[in-house]
Amino acid sequence: MSTDQCISRRKALQSKIIDGVAILFNAKEVTRNSDCHFKFRPDSYFHYFSYFPEPEAVIFILAGDKPRSIIFCRPKNPELETWEGFRFGPDEAKEQYGFDEAYSIEKINEIAPKIIAQFKSVYTPADADQNSQSQIQSWININKKQKRAGVRTPEMMVNLSHIADAMRVVKSESELDVMQKSANIAAKAHTIAMQKTKPGLYEYQIEGEILNQFMQLGAKEPSYQSIVAGGINACTLHYSANNSKLVDGDLLLIDAGCELEFYASDITRTYPINGRFSSAQKTIYELVLASQKASILEVKPGNSFNKPHETALNILIQGMVDLGLCKGSVDEVLEKKLYRDFFMHRTSHWLGLDVHDVGNYVDNNENSVLLEKGNVLTIEPGCYIKPSETTPKEFWGIGIRIEDDVEVTNQGNKVLSIEAPKEINEIESLVGSFF
Ligand code: GLY
Ligand code: MN
Ligand code: MN
Repeated sequence: MSTDQCISRRKALQSKIIDGVAILFNAKEVTRNSDCHFKFRPDSYFHYFSYFPEPEAVIFILAGDKPRSIIFCRPKNPELETWEGFRFGPDEAKEQYGFDEAYSIEKINEIAPKIIAQFKSVYTPADADQNSQSQIQSWININKKQKRAGVRTPEMMVNLSHIADAMRVVKSESELDVMQKSANIAAKAHTIAMQKTKPGLYEYQIEGEILNQFMQLGAKEPSYQSIVAGGINACTLHYSANNSKLVDGDLLLIDAGCELEFYASDITRTYPINGRFSSAQKTIYELVLASQKASILEVKPGNSFNKPHETALNILIQGMVDLGLCKGSVDEVLEKKLYRDFFMHRTSHWLGLDVHDVGNYVDNNENSVLLEKGNVLTIEPGCYIKPSETTPKEFWGIGIRIEDDVEVTNQGNKVLSIEAPKEINEIESLVGSFF
């Protein structure tokens, strides 16, 4: 993606914060153990407004009559660069990433208070980490001490998320293009995983096939810990141990997506480990699939975010009643939320730089927001049946979720993850076909 896109995002932000300055810190490097770090992943807000790839960097986006953008980053250091790799340094950062000014991060405590003193409001994400918040506070405190000398302190500390999230939740054409590619890679990985599944393998071996495909196809990271859950493990929603043996006759639920240029895909498929759905598995699978397809049809501009969820829920509840999983009428099951024993999460979330991406779900009047062109959301109904005296035994241990990534288009929607097979006949002919 081009730096121009980032520069126009900064301009758009400047027009929205009028008398303010926005401050964004990049993520910190995180220790894994001893002196080893996790692979560095930039903060999504910082990335959205800068594309600058290094840790220990902070950007200031200044509005007012002289709008400009300033970056602080690590200075060049030939000796350290020999050990740890290339650093842009302020001059090249300014040049390559389109900033108006750039300084060494070592100067930030000297320069930042002077920048802040020019503005009435300081905008920063409310969920910025504690260290970043304290650092901003320390700059304000420096100014406070000089109040009698005429130095200003901000009148308002404002949550930047409201403005930035409204921008991020509507994707540009180039973002949609990358998200399509991210979904294509993940869809291909799910297809290969189906082909390479057979009883007796371990869940982590299938996880390995998926990660291998991500990387072979150009996505260097998963967008979240892959869930590869055989049998009843699928009833643990955030299962990620991935260390059980795959059992003949069980289902396998895989929830895995990759990150491409920091954009997430998020796909779930569920299929029989031996390649043949049992009749009980088929019954629940058909129910979840019907609810998912009906839900996707409700993804269109002007519909509320909640509409696809309500649609999926109604179909699932009707099925739960018909199959004897829930007792009572559809209305009662809905009213008393009895369906939650089997479907305990929501159908959708926004998708983008974060897998559970930013963006409001309700407006100021607590109404579900309306879908608009450029939104991307998941559609992921499921049904999870733990053994219990009150449920028919044939369904015990079945956990099914089917999840697609869906873009809201002008007229309706486009399923970005369409290439991941989900029809029963496709699945049955694919599973185990590698061997
Ligand atoms: N993989 C996380 C989710 O589906 O929401
Ligand atoms: Mn999801
Ligand atoms: Mn998922």
